Amino acid sequence: MRRRIYLDFNASTPICPEAVEAMRPFLADHYGNPSSLHWAGMPAKDAVEKARGQVAGLLGCDPTEVVFTSGGSESNNHAIKGVFFANRDRGDHIVTTTVEHPATLNPCRFLEKLGARVTVLPVDRDGMVDPNDIRRAITSRTILITVMHANNEVGTIEPIPGISAIAREAGIPFHTDAAQTVGKISADVEELGVDLLSMAGHKVYAPKGIGALYMREGTKIEPFVHGAGHEAGRRAGTENVLLAVALGAACEAARKWIGMPRVKALRDRFRDGLRGIFGEQVTLNGHPTERLPNTLNVNFVGRVGAEILAMLPEVAASTGAACHAGSVTLSPVLAAMGVPPEEGMGAIRFSLGRTTTWEELAEVLDRLGSNS
Ligand SMILES: Cc1ncc(COP(=O)(O)O)c(C=O)c1O
Repeated sequence: MRRRIYLDFNASTPICPEAVEAMRPFLADHYGNPSSLHWAGMPAKDAVEKARGQVAGLLGCDPTEVVFTSGGSESNNHAIKGVFFANRDRGDHIVTTTVEHPATLNPCRFLEKLGARVTVLPVDRDGMVDPNDIRRAITSRTILITVMHANNEVGTIEPIPGISAIAREAGIPFHTDAAQTVGKISADVEELGVDLLSMAGHKVYAPKGIGALYMREGTKIEPFVHGAGHEAGRRAGTENVLLAVALGAACEAARKWIGMPRVKALRDRFRDGLRGIFGEQVTLNGHPTERLPNTLNVNFVGRVGAEILAMLPEVAASTGAACHAGSVTLSPVLAAMGVPPEEGMGAIRFSLGRTTTWEELAEVLDRLGSNS
């Protein structure tokens, strides 16, 4: 068996040593409820609040504006449904884009059943939405704009500051799904100008099942889980202390990785290597420059991505198309970008991480070359 190579860090990341260490005492020693005022509850409460501060430090916000959630999907659901339910007197219209994660598009679809009207804006060939389209889509009934910070499949970074300026001028809350950017590039809420921001722990080297939602002070939003007054009344349920401390530690550790220059250089060297082997038979999906530093989504033109990966079982990466009974369906993201099916059926997303080495990438190039 060849050594395994993981190039699917946009799907999930390993837990970083800092998060592992932070969790240890909460596995072995501390079991109190953070809401309890006695000796057992206090360390738990302190730990949750420290973690909240660490998350806030990465996002550039006040700790009181951070709510712990179960992950990216819940954060998006809370933001979208919570704003809709809290603003029904103001309107019913939501603006979003075709390239959002299902964790955004499906809550919007659900709200349509409750009377919401949803405008889903197109993107260009690079996967980018035009802020002018957002401006044109706004009506007097618009209560929410939700546009992802960067796309999980192709890595395109959306023009969030431009969109937030438009949202602010119109007085409309603006949510961004930053599951793919937090820890990779700056996701400072003031620089972005957003009112709500979703993040997912397992994309930032924390465990699965934890995330956070940034809520700008004053944003009108319903709680997602109703119950007791946890999380300042914004999300009921005893806090997941173990995972919250892990998320906090991971967020603090992530600060030194922002920009990922080493990973970006490796990714570009890998792309050059692919060009060297395949020439014009490999094309890029996503914006050439406004793209996550770790993400390379390429089409092996005329081939099927899943078949290529099947020949490299030791390499973990993702395809951009599904094959059923001989026919190929492009992912909704590639389809929305207008990637021709004969190109997109050969799409593979390689997403690199902190631990990726050139030796690993060179081995993948070697294996791809010998299977071409
Ligand atoms: C852009 C984006 N949003 C949301 C999610 C969902 O996050 P989670 O798996 O934590 O629910 C993902 C995960 O794939 C994602 O990439």
